[in-house]
Amino acid sequence: MMSLTMKQQDQFQEAILDHYERLSTEEIKPFEKARTITESLGYRAEDLDALPPEADLGLGCGNPHERARPQAGESVLDLGSGRGLDCLIAAKAVGRTGRVVGVDALASMVDKANQIASKQGFDHCTFIQGEIESIPCEDSQFDLVISNCVINLSRRKPTVYKEIFRVLKPGGRVAISDITTKKALPAEWVADPHMAKT
Ligand SMILES: C[S@@+](CC[C@H](N)C(=O)[O-])C[C@H]1O[C@@H](n2cnc3c(N)ncnc32)[C@H](O)[C@@H]1O
Repeated sequence: MMSLTMKQQDQFQEAILDHYERLSTEEIKPFEKARTITESLGYRAEDLDALPPEADLGLGCGNPHERARPQAGESVLDLGSGRGLDCLIAAKAVGRTGRVVGVDALASMVDKANQIASKQGFDHCTFIQGEIESIPCEDSQFDLVISNCVINLSRRKPTVYKEIFRVLKPGGRVAISDITTKKALPAEWVADPHMAKT
């Protein structure tokens, strides 16, 4: 990855969070076809049918549940939880003997996701504001860490992976769906904060 000054890192972070804030508050209209997009990524119709449509903004790039397979009683952390789609699916799978935590940098995402979880009666599923580069959770707390299309947005990926390792219980597992590149992107794209947000 191209190395960036602290100022450039801040500009990237600002552009990324501004974009998701505008999606969260619906200043940018979320994808009308969010459900179609999410189903095309391999999510099961029965999982999506069980959730209110506003939990899904159609922002994933794969389906971490294919590998994650949360089990009853497990503790699950979702990094960059958005409106809560993956946490709510995990919350159903782990049941009330388990727990699910979603972390997102934006208060607007966290507040809406908490409202949705509460409406669903999922008091074992909570959302907290924080950054994936500095996860606001104690060490060795989770059986499983999931994430859908978020780590690619970070300029500090090694830090994110160190943080994942820190919060996992010994023997814990990780299921990440994300975007990678097969070849180098043009330098002007890489240097443009607005190219980093999608
Ligand atoms: C592409 S969306 C994916 C949302 C969700 N995982 C989904 O599939 O619906 C990226 C999310 O990550 C959050 N985010 C971006 N950078 C973050 C960071 N450094 N720490 C925590 N959350 C971040 C955004 O606010 C947004 O909710």
